[in-house]
Amino acid sequence: SLVPVVLSGGSGTRLWPLSRERYPKQLLSLVNNDTLLQATVRRLDGLTGVQIQAPLIVCNEEYRFVIAEQLRVIGKDCNILLEPAGRNTAPALTLAALAAIRNAADPVLLVMPSDHVIVDNSAFQACVRKGMGLAEEGAVITFGITPDAPETGYGYIQSGKAMAAEGTFRIARFVEKPDLATAQAYLDDGSYLWNSGIFMMRASVWLSAIEHCHPDILVACRAAWDQGSVDGDFLRVDKTAFMLCPNDSIDYAVMEKLAENRSELPAGVVIPLSVGWSDVGAWDSLWQVLPKDPSGNVTRGDVLLHECQNTLVISENRLVACVGVDDLAVIETPDAILVAHKDRTQDVKKIVDTLRQSG
Ligand code: GDD
Ligand code: MG
Repeated sequence: SLVPVVLSGGSGTRLWPLSRERYPKQLLSLVNNDTLLQATVRRLDGLTGVQIQAPLIVCNEEYRFVIAEQLRVIGKDCNILLEPAGRNTAPALTLAALAAIRNAADPVLLVMPSDHVIVDNSAFQACVRKGMGLAEEGAVITFGITPDAPETGYGYIQSGKAMAAEGTFRIARFVEKPDLATAQAYLDDGSYLWNSGIFMMRASVWLSAIEHCHPDILVACRAAWDQGSVDGDFLRVDKTAFMLCPNDSIDYAVMEKLAENRSELPAGVVIPLSVGWSDVGAWDSLWQVLPKDPSGNVTRGDVLLHECQNTLVISENRLVACVGVDDLAVIETPDAILVAHKDRTQDVKKIVDTLRQSG
């Protein structure tokens, strides 16, 4: 059986002013009425031939009520595992594996970030179905995206030998967040994919991999889990034990090491995804992935445009009108308005930093 594990710990400061510290991007409706979290939980709806268990959401306890409410609205019965503090994705997945193994006999976990957009759900489901058998046999599956820029915020997966199942490859190499020159070399090389951040493996396979690669994470998470408790719909872990857990990501802690083909570690497999994927890191990447009018504009809410091109306008509250401007991102909210050149939306972070400093 398959347990969807949704990681919901990030903040996403470059999507200011819609995303705020108290209201990170996975809780926002950026594409349609669903928030990114709701869309993630619904992503497997309609998938046949796989027995799917209740999703497990792993999030900071600060967000528990908003998250529970968003799941209630879409009628999804989920288990919500609460972290007392963020320790990055490797501990989050370790807790999820410990929780999942308690409910079912060693299920396959489908690990999904809560803050990504996938346009073509049925193509995504086909890739999940493709990976299921390999995951059951003990492989760690990653899903790769064809890169189109030397992004330094992603993991790079070099695909190796083609495997028996069509569209599945061994991982030759995994490099997390390379520097720009290395990323450019990988892009030019042509054999590398971006890591989508979506993974699939049996719960026991993850636990044994983390035990080999970073045993102190397993020790801390096991202590936190064993001393945890069930609180209504929420699964709590012991705070004191979890605070002692080292901070590390799935990618650095385990994925980079899989590629070394150490016999005590599981086989790494990559399945290329062609599904309209975006991690919506900044406003320009949201514009990139959304459907556009013939002039390349994307609008949401009460917006009027005259002779504008390749512009993104989101209005929450008021009528926003633009005349004769190109390549802008305009985001209107009740208490703040952002106007940015679309090529500079990465730098919205600077505004957030300034706001933080001024309190
Ligand atoms: N529960 C929980 N706890 N979730 C977390 C935590 C945590 O401590 N830290 C991060 N997350 C969630 C984030 O909310 C996000 O949905 C997901 O885990 C990935 O974390 P990011 O912090 O966004 O990772 P990244 O973007 O730097 O890198 C990852 O994603 C890239 C693709 O977007 C890596 O997997 C890269 O290799 C990959 O290319
Ligand atoms: Mg990310």
